[in-house]
Amino acid sequence: MEIPKHVAVIMDGNGRWATERKLSRIEGHKEGIKTVKKIIQAAIKNNIQYLTLYAFSSENWNRPEDEVIGLMQLLNSFLKFEEKTLLKNKVRLKTIGRIYELPKNTYQAIESLKSKTEQFDGLTLTVALNYSSQNEIVDAVKAMIDQSQKGTLDIENISYKEIAQNLDTKDLPDPDLIIRTSGEYRLSNFLLLQSAYSEIYISTIYWPDFNQSHFEKAISHYRKRERRFGTIMNKSTLKNLEPNS
Ligand code: IPE
Ligand code: IPE
Ligand code: MG
Repeated sequence: MEIPKHVAVIMDGNGRWATERKLSRIEGHKEGIKTVKKIIQAAIKNNIQYLTLYAFSSENWNRPEDEVIGLMQLLNSFLKFEEKTLLKNKVRLKTIGRIYELPKNTYQAIESLKSKTEQFDGLTLTVALNYSSQNEIVDAVKAMIDQSQKGTLDIENISYKEIAQNLDTKDLPDPDLIIRTSGEYRLSNFLLLQSAYSEIYISTIYWPDFNQSHFEKAISHYRKRERRFGTIMNKSTLKNLEPNS
């Protein structure tokens, strides 16, 4: 199979990585940022068009205050120090999630970098921040009710297409491959609708130890998978059966 167009990653295991080394959880997150930089480069090298990183879930606000503050500080420094690299590599930055609920300075830094990079056609890097798939669906439902009241949406004709157009991911293809590190087998409120036919790859490696070769291993596993999308044959077989092929 071809390489995945869209790879989404649930970056997990920073806390356990740190605890095993008798370090603070924040030290684990700091190390995790280094992996983020490596995986962005790995995605570029491997010609991945869309990379989506789950960085902070809406449920993560329920962690101890010092951890949440530390994560916001790390996000701020990432935005500050990675700007150059993103511009140099023509990376287009996007976000999903209710970013307007983030601290004001963080929100503004994100918006500014998004607008600086929106014309780029290199890798599209989407960061999920204050993201919850369930909240995203709530927001889509509200937006659609609003559109119907304004007369721009006909409720009778709603199909999944209209719902997808109201999700934060409206400009992104569905993820082909979802990688979760640290050996956990769950989606934790990430892209629940968009992952309908995604291939899922679980790595037992903690995120701070995850590297380019682990990323490439996930891609090569993906390439051996047979995606059927509910049919009984793989796509290439179906293609050969098409009358004009
Ligand atoms: C993932 O690592 C990063 C975030 C959720 C922000 P964790 O902090 O969840 O690490 P573990 O799962 O506790 O090891
Ligand atoms: C998912 O990891 C969220 C992110 C990677 C940002 P969590 O560590 O928060 O998820 P659970 O609590 O293990 O399900
Ligand atoms: Mg975790």
